[in-house]
Amino acid sequence: MPAAEAEIAAARLLERFPGGLEERAADDCTELTVFTDEQGEAEVFSAFSDVSAERVEPAWEDRWKEFHRPVSAGGLWIGPPWMEPPPGRPAVVVDPGRAFGTGAHPTTRACVELLARVDRGSLLDAGCGSGVLSVAAARLGFAPVVAVDVDEVAIEIARETANANGVEVNAFRADVLLDELPRADVLVANIELAIVERLLQRVASCIAVTSGYLQSETPRKRGWARIDRMVLDGWAADVLRAE
Ligand SMILES: C[S@@+](CC[C@H](N)C(=O)[O-])C[C@H]1O[C@@H](n2cnc3c(N)ncnc32)[C@H](O)[C@@H]1O
Repeated sequence: MPAAEAEIAAARLLERFPGGLEERAADDCTELTVFTDEQGEAEVFSAFSDVSAERVEPAWEDRWKEFHRPVSAGGLWIGPPWMEPPPGRPAVVVDPGRAFGTGAHPTTRACVELLARVDRGSLLDAGCGSGVLSVAAARLGFAPVVAVDVDEVAIEIARETANANGVEVNAFRADVLLDELPRADVLVANIELAIVERLLQRVASCIAVTSGYLQSETPRKRGWARIDRMVLDGWAADVLRAE
């Protein structure tokens, strides 16, 4: 597919197949490959038009591991459990198995960079996915950290991620648009723009770090002023202050 559409398609695929997405650029096109089972294959065929399928060796479960490289953000090393962080470097270890959030996506990286710039305090991670932002926040000195997600599996994984990293995160299932949310000094929300905007009118935080939308988009919500922005690979993340 054309490279311009590939970013959006990759984000959609990453949400559904966080562990197994491969991206290859060729001339003015990008080829996206998903390693999955028959059910996943059917989902991809129903969601996209230009799709082909091919059977791969039984060891495909391990092949995707080659594509998970560690990243740096906010002074932290964020990487998979089968790699070693550099000695002395604060690390966030995330198993990119089932929930969105390996740390490698530009929106996640930008959120971590911006979290590193704001005053520490209590934090609510809305739409926590794998829990990567919660653990990164804890590593950066935010406490207490509460993580919520509408997806029960994400909550399970966020708890596992927190345990594996030895940090305290209180994770529970909640729909950020419907359920009561705990008050926190800082909100971090890497979800899509429409949800971010609706969420902003429900929280009582002083600072919000938001992402999940493109550079051309900005959350607009009365009562919030933008004080910082980071753009990575066409994606944007903002720091908003409650007025
Ligand atoms: C793009 S992922 C972000 C994951 C992780 N925070 C990161 O930055 O890598 C968005 C997450 O928001 C969750 N989500 C979407 N809508 C939600 C809602 N209304 N309430 C709670 N969580 C929601 C999804 O289940 C998904 O795990």
